[in-house]
Amino acid sequence: MMETKHWTVSEQSLNKQAMSEAAVLLKQGEAVAFPTETVYGLGADATNEKAVRKIFEAKGRPSDNPLIVHVANTNQLEDLVEEVPDVAHKLLEAFSPGPLTLILKSKGTVAPNVSAGLDSIGIRIPSHPVGLRLLEEAAIPIAAPSANISGRPSPTRAEHVVHDLDGRIAGIMDGGPTGIGLESTVLDCTEAVPVILRPGGVTAEAIQRVIGTVMIDPGLAGEQKEKPKAPGMKYTHYAPEAPLYLVKENMQQQADKLAEAGEKVGIIATEELAATLDSERIQICGTRKNLATVAEHLYDALRHFKKSDVSVILCESFSKQDVGAAIMNRLEKAATGVM
Ligand code: TXA
Ligand code: MG
Repeated sequence: MMETKHWTVSEQSLNKQAMSEAAVLLKQGEAVAFPTETVYGLGADATNEKAVRKIFEAKGRPSDNPLIVHVANTNQLEDLVEEVPDVAHKLLEAFSPGPLTLILKSKGTVAPNVSAGLDSIGIRIPSHPVGLRLLEEAAIPIAAPSANISGRPSPTRAEHVVHDLDGRIAGIMDGGPTGIGLESTVLDCTEAVPVILRPGGVTAEAIQRVIGTVMIDPGLAGEQKEKPKAPGMKYTHYAPEAPLYLVKENMQQQADKLAEAGEKVGIIATEELAATLDSERIQICGTRKNLATVAEHLYDALRHFKKSDVSVILCESFSKQDVGAAIMNRLEKAATGVM
């Protein structure tokens, strides 16, 4: 165990001392958690192999799962890649800074353990004022996966990071709840037609409007034959403490049946569905009128129910349009089954 530094930083008053302390730790090769607009990231100097190893160790992350490199601006991005194809320029203009990660051909500048032996590199410029300011202050490329223990739901609040990683990393910067709530869209731009490897904050529909065509990795469609091209997509992810089932319809009946069988049932539902239910343990995760609110609250809801309180969790199911694609991708990976 190590002593973890804690800073609280708000978007209004960017605490200068906290920023410089965190940046110094990063430059010294330590791992520090910081807020982005999607989820909290666990950052370390992407050019320092030893620093990057600390990320894998703190998270218990498999070493064949490459990390996204975070930079403050397009110049820094260009230093890390062989070339920025035209589509990537268009996408950067439309969505950067923001929740879009571009996979490009690596120039080999970052430490080899960042890319897990691939010749490509995932890069993004986050838009969260606190995260972006820290990247500017550190002025080095920062490798940063989500700041959770591998397999757990990603952290959307500093408390989630503290719960998983306190005592295992050098610092945690609390910048409040993250906002978007699901990770960035991972888009492979090394092919002639870009391919979505992980649905996220920027929707397929929005990408299509900017570049015309985009493909979706067949490994994402749930056909188990195809291996997902983003190595991270094959591992257990986002798992709550109790088994999770996605419920397509008849939530009340499903819950009653399980309760009669002796299960302690927790329910994750939108306010609309919750209003129709009779249950002691409901966690509301937003409104059906605006699925962005579900994305925002989903990981907090998955972390809400503890093993000591429930034996099974039932979660409402959503359409896969727009942000629903990212929500359902995470839920299907987190779930033991569908009913
Ligand atoms: O929103 C986000 O992207 C957050 C915040 C912290 O920025 N980060 C994040 O990182 O979600 P992580 O490590 O949890 O997920 C990275 C994903 C994994 O699925 C990984 O396999 C994929 O991106 N990835 C990274 N580099 C890749 C590469 N060169 N080729 C293919 N997939 C890559
Ligand atoms: Mg993650």
